[in-house]
Amino acid sequence: MKNNVLENNGNIELLASWIKESKYTVVLTGAGMSTESGIPDFRSKDGWWKNLDPTTVASTYALENKYDLFRDFYIMRINTLKNCKPHIGHKILADWEKRGLVQCIATQNVDRFHHEAGSKNVYELHGNIRTVKCEDCGANGQLEDFVMKKSCSKCGGRLRPNVVLFGESLPYDDFNNAMEAIRKAELVIVIGTSLQVYPVNQLPYLCKGKKVYINMDVDYHSRNFDMVIKGKAGNTLLDIEKYLTKN
Ligand code: OAD
Ligand code: ZN
Repeated sequence: MKNNVLENNGNIELLASWIKESKYTVVLTGAGMSTESGIPDFRSKDGWWKNLDPTTVASTYALENKYDLFRDFYIMRINTLKNCKPHIGHKILADWEKRGLVQCIATQNVDRFHHEAGSKNVYELHGNIRTVKCEDCGANGQLEDFVMKKSCSKCGGRLRPNVVLFGESLPYDDFNNAMEAIRKAELVIVIGTSLQVYPVNQLPYLCKGKKVYINMDVDYHSRNFDMVIKGKAGNTLLDIEKYLTKN
């Protein structure tokens, strides 16, 4: 383990100073950013993939061969969002952007909570489940139609969320913009992701500046970061905010 990881572990005050000093900061988020809003992540004990095999519901195979199952899974995910909203951590990140402390967010999350909280520069690396399109003719569709199990109003084809499925490539512009931003970043703060999914899990290492990892479970990746903070996203961001506004 890098010495400075041990020295800097959980040093919120130092992180606040890094945020103030950095001229270009990128935040990379994953499902752990949204669990405090009531949305399960994927690989924790209550995560989606504990009871479901992603390839059976969230893949191009499922879309092509098990459309009913595929649709039921995404209707369930869309319905889960209905009673959930962004938490204090999302709001703090949006506020940091307004104050010039964060330049952009790259997220693997499909819930659009960063937008809802007011963040403007958001790259959606895995798409979103708030909008739908027709798999067959490409036309935009209505989310309500998908949830009501209707077909495409243009061609009668299969509606689907604009989410990246296993077997599909990532949205070109969002991914390239995120890479470019991280390449020039002086500070990258990674929050709430197990960093198990390629290619997003490679992004932090493009940063030539400081890399920070905030997650409930940090053991696996801690050696690759300049600072690790084991904790909840919302609480940790609130703690950092306290130091930022102290003086
Ligand atoms: P994972 O479920 O793999 O990882 C979430 C991480 O967040 C875990 O390491 C948890 O310990 C941590 N965590 C949970 N709650 C937290 C909290 N309140 N505060 C801080 N950390 C917390 O989710 P992702 O890494 O986002 O892809 O998964 C990546 C991709 O895999 C997803 O975008 C999705 C999935 O298959 C697609 O659907 C294409
Ligand atoms: Zn169509």
